Amino acid sequence: MPEWKNMVGQVKNPQTGKTLDEEGRLIKVEQIDASIAVHYKRDGLALEHKKLIEQSIYELLEKGFSEDDITVLSFTSETTEQARPAAAQAQLKAGHGPIGAGKKRVPGVRKVLAVSSCKGGVGKSTVAVNLCLAFKNQGLKVGLIDADIYGPSIPMLLGKRDAQPAANDQKKIVPIEAYGIHFISFGLFIKESDPVIWRGPMLGGVLNQFLFDVDWGELDVLVIDLPPGTGDMQLSMIQSTEVDGALTISTPQSVALLDSKKGVAMFNQVKIPVLGLVENMSYFIPDDQPDKRYHIFGEGGVEQAAKELALPLLAQIPLEIPLREGSDNGVPYMSNNSFEGRPVWNAFSQLSLAMIEALGLKEQKKGFLSRFF
Ligand SMILES: Nc1ncnc2c1ncn2[C@@H]1O[C@H](COP(=O)(O)OP(=O)(O)OP(=O)(O)O)[C@@H](O)[C@H]1O
Ligand SMILES: [Mg+2]
Repeated sequence: MPEWKNMVGQVKNPQTGKTLDEEGRLIKVEQIDASIAVHYKRDGLALEHKKLIEQSIYELLEKGFSEDDITVLSFTSETTEQARPAAAQAQLKAGHGPIGAGKKRVPGVRKVLAVSSCKGGVGKSTVAVNLCLAFKNQGLKVGLIDADIYGPSIPMLLGKRDAQPAANDQKKIVPIEAYGIHFISFGLFIKESDPVIWRGPMLGGVLNQFLFDVDWGELDVLVIDLPPGTGDMQLSMIQSTEVDGALTISTPQSVALLDSKKGVAMFNQVKIPVLGLVENMSYFIPDDQPDKRYHIFGEGGVEQAAKELALPLLAQIPLEIPLREGSDNGVPYMSNNSFEGRPVWNAFSQLSLAMIEALGLKEQKKGFLSRFF
């Protein structure tokens, strides 16, 4: 074993030409049976150099280990100490899979869609859940990953707070089903009272498990509810997966052009197309005054941001009390046909159709049907 540590220590940082050992970056190399894990410090590394270093480590270790048995975790000095106990306590194998070593597609899944927001509390999870149901209402098979470690709310929104995911014969995690949607969530692996001890550098690996160690079966679309924000953590979560498109949710009040630009730049960096912006909590129509629109959080901001970013404004979702009530009660709005035709229902339906078009799901669906007609 010591020779693996020495060999990894000789990997060079292309930024400086010095080895990991020389720069004191190697924290530990741990071999357990056929698996090996490398922990190193990535302080000050540019993303492209970090990727190259990890690639070199993988290439080296693949001489002795299979790809699935190699884990490379990067830490910054400030997270190193907290991150270790988290790895031990979690049920998930934190950091599993090759982070940043080439993008992989999720087998059996036609399209992957990421739902993001620059700020928290704008309704990202509400939109993710109801968009999934709108897809289902269009006849698609849908999966949902709740990757929001700081506020994993999907189990609550789908009325499955106490569900416990099981493993199948192939040791894959079986997703939970609710309202015809298959989903998995960080919330199912941590107790609600637990402090959130996870740290950014590990999350890319955990999302990798949600993508590749979950038995998704055949899906038309897999939606990922990302943590709010556009930082390093979100980037590390999505950089190793082939994501076909991203949506950004804002409210008229929360939208800031600079944040939106950062979000678009983040997705550009990992070559994920941003399909457009969604405005949530756009306006309120009182039931007893159906001709009135109250712009409670302001008006026009998201439209303006979309214009400046040259992105489409895909939907404007109004405020409705039953949308909030449905979320609180674990009965999502779009699962209840009696809301058909209401403004929120129409907005989600419109958004799902725009996504089906943008992701090319329509063509494939047509092709599929044309075999029968
Ligand atoms: N259009 C809407 N009409 C009424 N209530 C809404 C609407 N959109 C979201 N809400 C409510 O706003 C609150 C925040 O929504 P949600 O949890 O989906 O936001 P989020 O962006 O996922 O938040 P976080 O950043 O905490 O993950 C919830 O109580 C939700 O029910
Ligand atoms: Mg949320």
